[in-house]
Amino acid sequence: MAAKIYLIAAARPNFMKIAPLWRALQEHADYFTPYLIHTGQHYDRTMSEVFLRELGLPDPHVHLGVGSGTHAEQTGRVMMALEKLCLNDRPDLVLVVGDVNSTMAATLAAKKLCIPVGHIEAGLRSRDWQMPEEINRIVTDAVSDLLFTPSADADENLRAEGVAPERIYLVGNIMIDTLVQALPQAKSRETCRLFGKQPRGYALITLHRPVNVDDPEALGGILARIQALDFPVVFPVHPRTRKVIEGSPLAASLARSESRIMLSDPLGYLDFLSLILNARFVLTDSGGIQEETTYLGIPCLTLRTTTERPITITQGTNELVTLADMQAQAARILAGNWKQGSRPPLWDGATAPRIATVLKGWHG
Ligand code: UD1
Repeated sequence: MAAKIYLIAAARPNFMKIAPLWRALQEHADYFTPYLIHTGQHYDRTMSEVFLRELGLPDPHVHLGVGSGTHAEQTGRVMMALEKLCLNDRPDLVLVVGDVNSTMAATLAAKKLCIPVGHIEAGLRSRDWQMPEEINRIVTDAVSDLLFTPSADADENLRAEGVAPERIYLVGNIMIDTLVQALPQAKSRETCRLFGKQPRGYALITLHRPVNVDDPEALGGILARIQALDFPVVFPVHPRTRKVIEGSPLAASLARSESRIMLSDPLGYLDFLSLILNARFVLTDSGGIQEETTYLGIPCLTLRTTTERPITITQGTNELVTLADMQAQAARILAGNWKQGSRPPLWDGATAPRIATVLKGWHG
């Protein structure tokens, strides 16, 4: 009988990891029956629905509707809702992706009911315990049965933590599956022109980490440095960041005509990918964008002190920057003095089929 598999989707960066899995599992209907479970951690149309539609995902079979809240509230609500569902419906396997609160919560709820869990994007470590995502990653990996890793450094991290090698599967970067599939469509649009920009004539900025955006003064300091780059900037704003901007004098200064920073609402996947493709460089504090820019060979400055994705620095086009050296690094890029980078092994668009093959063997 086909295994009933729950795919847990929750927040914006999850959807591009779930979409290729959904397709790969559906291609093996004799083995698997996938169900899309949306926790509701992200609920705005621009943070969720747009992605389901663009990435060819169905409407979720179940929507847990947990919404926003403190970490404990959000985690607890996902656990309670998923536990109830699992008790009634008893899936054979729960697959979780990434490192958001819902990833950890779904893992704990399922494992306590002795339902096996597979974690896709396992083994990444920033070693920064201030990041909620680091706690989510470590807890999720500690109890998951199947650990699907994107790169060899993740395998090393898991082995160093004492994880048995037979739980670890190096399958590559699932998000790149979606990127590879969407690339022709993204190339055919030039979203930058909607912002009045020419290809390579702007930098693309994203900021949403609590450490960068929750304090209006800190965010104001970052935006002042970005203005000082004196290079046009397109800045699609995460709802978390938008709230801080709107509640502070930053809103007025960004609205001034001399501002080099053009704000927009969050964008869909294809428009955002198009903006990366045509950007001169990207400045971000996101995890996934470090990987997308590495795959595409676009220079990336990551405004963080650590990264859980070091391969984007050692092999790709990414560098960590501080506020103090951001300007100098951006100047290097604008002068054409930046590393080329190369694509890490197994970032090839075929990660989801590799996972399906592992799961076939596991299911027997
Ligand atoms: C979450 C993830 C983060 C991921 C990011 C991508 C955790 C701990 N964090 O951060 O790892 O990089 O998603 O976007 O899981 N909000 C809305 N509409 C929405 C969703 C959120 O307005 O659809 C606002 C709410 O005010 C909410 C705040 O954003 O309180 C934060 O949302 P939350 O899901 O808790 O964390 P993110 O900052 O989005």
